[in-house]
This record gives sequence, structure tokens and C-alpha cells, in this order.
Amino acid sequence: MSNDITDSGSGSGSTQGTGGRPGVTLVLGATGKTGRRVLARLRLRGTPVRPASRSSPTRFDWSEPGGWDTALRGVTAVYVVPPSVPGPVHAFATRAEAAGVRHLVLLSGHGADRWGDSAFGLDMRSAEDAVRRSGLGWTVLRAANFNQNFDEDVFHAPLLSGGLALPAGPVPEPFVDLEDVADVAAAVLAEPDRHAGRTYELTGPRALTFAEAVELIARASGRPLTFTRVSPDAYTAALVGEGLGEEEARHVAEMFVMMERQNISGTEDGVATVLGRAPRNFEEYVVRAAAAGAWRRRP
Ligand SMILES: NC(=O)c1ccc[n+]([C@@H]2O[C@H](COP(=O)([O-])OP(=O)(O)OC[C@H]3O[C@@H](n4cnc5c(N)ncnc54)[C@H](OP(=O)(O)O)[C@@H]3O)[C@@H](O)[C@H]2O)c1
Repeated sequence: MSNDITDSGSGSGSTQGTGGRPGVTLVLGATGKTGRRVLARLRLRGTPVRPASRSSPTRFDWSEPGGWDTALRGVTAVYVVPPSVPGPVHAFATRAEAAGVRHLVLLSGHGADRWGDSAFGLDMRSAEDAVRRSGLGWTVLRAANFNQNFDEDVFHAPLLSGGLALPAGPVPEPFVDLEDVADVAAAVLAEPDRHAGRTYELTGPRALTFAEAVELIARASGRPLTFTRVSPDAYTAALVGEGLGEEEARHVAEMFVMMERQNISGTEDGVATVLGRAPRNFEEYVVRAAAAGAWRRRP
């Protein structure tokens, strides 16, 4: 039996959120790396859910506010994956309150208040401000770099080609597993009042350098993968060569510079605080992904 509530209101759960019945949880970014994992956990719990994104049955586009009210109908809680330029989150929070939403769970970045005046820091804090000032219950999940960036996102293609080149050196990163991020988000959405007004820093159990991460992937996948440190300018040029716009490429390169400069490589206890257990380690992730063929050489 499906608990999915489409934008026309069909599905097996209540859309009202009154009389003790569960309301609908709107999952934004539902086709993305965190959204689809959060969605699976909520469905398993029997929570009425409405997956939404530009390509989901309930269409949601940050650049088309005209469609937001339909997505928000009957919703009591929202998992918010903000757009990279977070301006619309402010208007969304206002619309969510008007629609009767009671709680927003925002995905943000680890140490968002330690990124200074970089575009990255300003954007993350703007989205956080939008939910904190909304007048609704809110919880902010500040996640470190995802383990799964190495097999589901930006680092995957270079690894398939034999190596990763980044402007990253000896400062380690406390990579977090997306399964833990999703476990935390689902736990918060299940008991929003318990987690209201909380900001959780989500990291893995230890920090490792990108070179160490690639070494572990090379060992588990049985491939001679390399890691090369390059300058931010060389990295920007490489990203532009791959088709990224100049501004976005600089933005991404700047993120690595900030990671080297800021004090954000320490591990934090957000996963344990919410889940009562230690976070998954990078080795578990690497073994799982390698066994699934993530870095197998393509013919
Ligand atoms: N990567 C990391 O290490 C890391 C660490 C901490 C925080 N974060 C944050 O995580 C967020 C990304 O989350 P994710 O990795 O779960 O997502 P993702 O895998 O990057 O997927 C993006 C999701 O957003 C949807 N989307 C894209 N453009 C949209 C638009 N204009 N309107 C509405 N939906 C749109 C996409 O679906 P459709 O294409 O169907 O619209 C998709 O479901 C970013 O805010 C990032 O800053 C990332």
C-alpha cells in the first residue's frame, strides 16, 4: 500500500494533520541523493509523503513559486533541499507557514557559520536564516562532504577515468555517509517537536584527506586510482573545460580553499545525538560501493 500523496491529494494517508492523524511530509529534492533516501525511510515508517522536484509527480521548481501552494497542500512538515542560490527559501518559508506547515528540516553545510564571507558561507547562512526566522518549528542539518560524492556525484567521473585532481591538501575532511544524513532527517521528521530549534553538525567518525579517501577507494576497488593536488586556478579551468560556467567553477574551487583555511575538519556528534549510535565510517561506505561496482572500469 502506498503512502504517497500526490498533488491531487490521492494516497492512503491523511492530508489534514489534524485529529491526531499524521499530516503529509513534503520531501523536496526527492530525486536527489538525500531526498530519495529520506523518502524511502518515511515510506517505510508509513508516513504520508509527497515527493517533489522538477521531475517528480508533484512538480516543484524553486524558480516557479506559482506551483508551490499545490505542493504544500495538507503538508505539516517539509524536508528542504535548498537551491544553490537560496533566495527563494525565504519566500517558501512564508508560503509554508500560510499553508499550515508546522516544521521545516533544512539541509545545510557543516560549519556554515565558519565559512566567512565566501559566497558559499553567505548562501548557506541565508537559507538557515530563512527557516530560523520563519516562525515555524525548524531543524537545521549541517552535513559535511558526503561519502557518496565519490560514487554518485562530482568525484565519480574522474575516478572512473583513473584519478581525482582537486585543490585539496593535507587538511582532512570529516566525510559523512548519506545513509546517516537520511537516518537523522527521518528521525527528526518523525519527532519534530523533540528536535525543534536545534542545529545538528553531521560528520563521520573521523576526518581523512582526499588523498587518503582515494587510496581507500583504490584498495577496495582494486584499481590504481590516483590523487593529485592542483591549484584552485587549474581546478577552475578544468571545471570550465568540463562545461561548468566560469562563475560556478570559481565558486566550487573557492569551497576547497575555504575548507583548507577554516577550522572545519573536526568531527562532531550530531549523528550520535540524534540517533544514539556512532556514524558509519568511510571504510564501510567504500566496501559497500566497491562491492556494488561503483568504480568498476566501464568498457
Ligand atoms: N555534496 C555534499 O557533500 C554536500 C554536503 C553538505 C550539504 N550539501 C547540500 O546538499 C544539497 C544537495 O542535496 P542532494 O545532494 O540531496 O541533492 P542532489 O543529489 O544534488 O539533487 C538535487 C535535487 O534537487 C532537485 N532540483 C534541482 N533543481 C531544482 C529546482 N530548480 N527546483 C526544485 N528542485 C530542484 C533535483 O530534482 P529535479 O532535477 O527533478 O528537479 C534533485 O532532486 C545542496 O544544497 C548542497 O549545498 C551537499
